[in-house]
Amino acid sequence: MVLTMTASESQHVLVTGGSGFIGSHLVDHLLQLGHRVDVVDDLSTGRLSNLEPLLSKHSDRLSFVHSDLSAWLVGAGSGSRFDAIYHLAAAVGVKLVVDDPISTIETNIMQTSAVLGHVTAHGIPLFIASTSEVYGKSDSIPFHEESDITFGPTSRSRWSYACSKAIDEYLGLAHAKRHGTPIVIARFFNTVGPRQVGTYGMVLPSFVHAALSGRPLQVYGDGEQSRCFCDVRDIVPVLPKMLANVECHGRVFNLGNDHSITINELARLVRDTLGSTSDIEKIPYDEAYAPGFEDLVARAPDLGRIREVLEFAPSVSLVQTIRDLAAIADLEGGAS
Ligand SMILES: NC(=O)c1ccc[n+]([C@@H]2O[C@H](COP(=O)([O-])OP(=O)(O)OC[C@H]3O[C@@H](n4cnc5c(N)ncnc54)[C@H](O)[C@@H]3O)[C@@H](O)[C@H]2O)c1
Repeated sequence: MVLTMTASESQHVLVTGGSGFIGSHLVDHLLQLGHRVDVVDDLSTGRLSNLEPLLSKHSDRLSFVHSDLSAWLVGAGSGSRFDAIYHLAAAVGVKLVVDDPISTIETNIMQTSAVLGHVTAHGIPLFIASTSEVYGKSDSIPFHEESDITFGPTSRSRWSYACSKAIDEYLGLAHAKRHGTPIVIARFFNTVGPRQVGTYGMVLPSFVHAALSGRPLQVYGDGEQSRCFCDVRDIVPVLPKMLANVECHGRVFNLGNDHSITINELARLVRDTLGSTSDIEKIPYDEAYAPGFEDLVARAPDLGRIREVLEFAPSVSLVQTIRDLAAIADLEGGAS
């Protein structure tokens, strides 16, 4: 039998990918709720420094395992029992995906398949992080969870990330239906905040670092593509609430901010907020990524479904996120 606990009961939870950007904020939040947290991360894109202050402060309730997740699940972790698992481990970032589609596809599908095998065998509630990329290049704005999805051709490796995450969703929904396991899937839209790095093609940290160092802010394409940015600190408190809510089980939800901004506007906002004199430079997509790279003109979530089951009102402003990212970049010497 599967037992679902309330979001406030003390639990022993696993966060996969917990030393990554979103994962480390989730770990922080779960510790604040009083839970005991295990993290498994192979540090492929995550950084141990994201967890170090938490490991020092909560040495009795936080443990870190440096391992590939699927290897750990069939090895040392095979007998582990948890009250809940938050599965965030994935190959992430447009640049990483375009540069290494094989690892993207294999990582995303194999890790999710392995974690689903573990939770269904032991009846553990599971949260799966999916992505707005799953909508592909649909132009039906705002994106609703039941909207059709439209991918580009398989010759464009960019879509491999979206397809791998769509397969993860199919797998999660099928396991929830067949085994009755409480599984919740959230499609994160562009999530931003402290600890995010620009290395793998994330636009906001790249702009902040460029603005701080006086380098040009590089806008890909004509910059008129629009996106919705949500601070990670508005996202993570919702995840345990979703897992504890039976109305969320076996379903997919959009999660993000529904306020749109073009990339040109974002570049100007970063420059103005940080008082930077950096230029704004346009780079063709072919040069930025790969010949034939396809991008979306607009991406925005329909938040109706999540708001039917939970209160969800993002409150951290983009200006605040930019300031907080800049403060950390300064501390890390990230402006070089
Ligand atoms: N940041 C966003 O805007 C965004 C948007 C949509 C979806 N997501 C999803 O949210 C989740 C977290 O993304 P993030 O932005 O924090 O990226 P991230 O790269 O910081 O985090 C991913 C983590 O997974 C780890 N990982 C990768 N492969 C692994 C493996 N085989 N075994 C163990 N650990 C592994 C990485 O080292 C990293 O710590 C991902 O599932 C991603 O697809 C993020």
